[in-house]
Amino acid sequence: MFGKLSLDAIPFHEPIVMVTITAIIVIGLALVGAITYFHKWGYLWKEWFTTVDHKRIGIMYIIVAIVMLVRGFADAVMMRSQQVLASSGTSDGFLPPHHYDQIFTAHGVIMIFFVAMPFVIGLMNFVIPLQLGARVVACPFLNNLGFWFTAVSVVLVNLSLGIGEFAQTGWLSYPPLSGLEFSPGVGVDYWIWSLQISGIGTTVSAVNFIATILKMRAPGMTMMKMPIFCWASFCSNILILTSFPILTASVA
Ligand code: HEM
Repeated sequence: MFGKLSLDAIPFHEPIVMVTITAIIVIGLALVGAITYFHKWGYLWKEWFTTVDHKRIGIMYIIVAIVMLVRGFADAVMMRSQQVLASSGTSDGFLPPHHYDQIFTAHGVIMIFFVAMPFVIGLMNFVIPLQLGARVVACPFLNNLGFWFTAVSVVLVNLSLGIGEFAQTGWLSYPPLSGLEFSPGVGVDYWIWSLQISGIGTTVSAVNFIATILKMRAPGMTMMKMPIFCWASFCSNILILTSFPILTASVA
């Protein structure tokens, strides 16, 4: 069921990874404990996790982006520290090469796909219907589904920290480096699945925003009277809709 993964996939021998995982587990448990203690699961489920309100979905996207910004920033700090330590010539630094490669790949993937994009999609969610004078987006359920596709991919990327490894190929994962010959581990699999799943989320969001902009403007608001942010979003979503299916097909 777990494919190439076995118990050996957990890097018990790597202190940096183990300390990070322990910290994440402790913070996660504290969060779950606090939500349970204050009886907030019902509220969170009804008002946030399953919401179809565009503003709340927008806020959830932005929260995910901020959390992942912290992760991407931690990766950046590790890379720069390694470069400073190793550039003196007297030491190899604190990161072995395979770990450094995973960190810069994860940093690129996270900053682009799980910080920049969720932040912008969150902003679009919050702002577009307000500027158009629409009460909801065209497909409110699809909007929520798109968010959860992104959230699942975020979980996958973070899971690769403690189970297995992430890709060591750079964020664009060009072959032949990303092929089985040079990347036989599970890292590229994590890369493929996280991009594929979040890509589906991004594509459905793009369909949703384009439909909202074309069909749900307030009476009297012609395309030429539309605020510039809506125009920018419209153009970006057309770009997403034309490029992401190609990414999906090539990653598959
Ligand atoms: C907090 C400040 C940041 C620092 C100190 C930083 C540092 C770095 C370093 C040192 C690398 C090169 C790694 C290497 O090739 O060995 C890198 C790569 C990269 N960074 Fe950042 N970064 C920062 C913020 C960002 C942000 C905000 C984004 C995008 C929104 C970003 C996107 C990327 C991408 C796409 C790469 C290329 C990764 C690859 O080649 O696979 N970074 N960064």
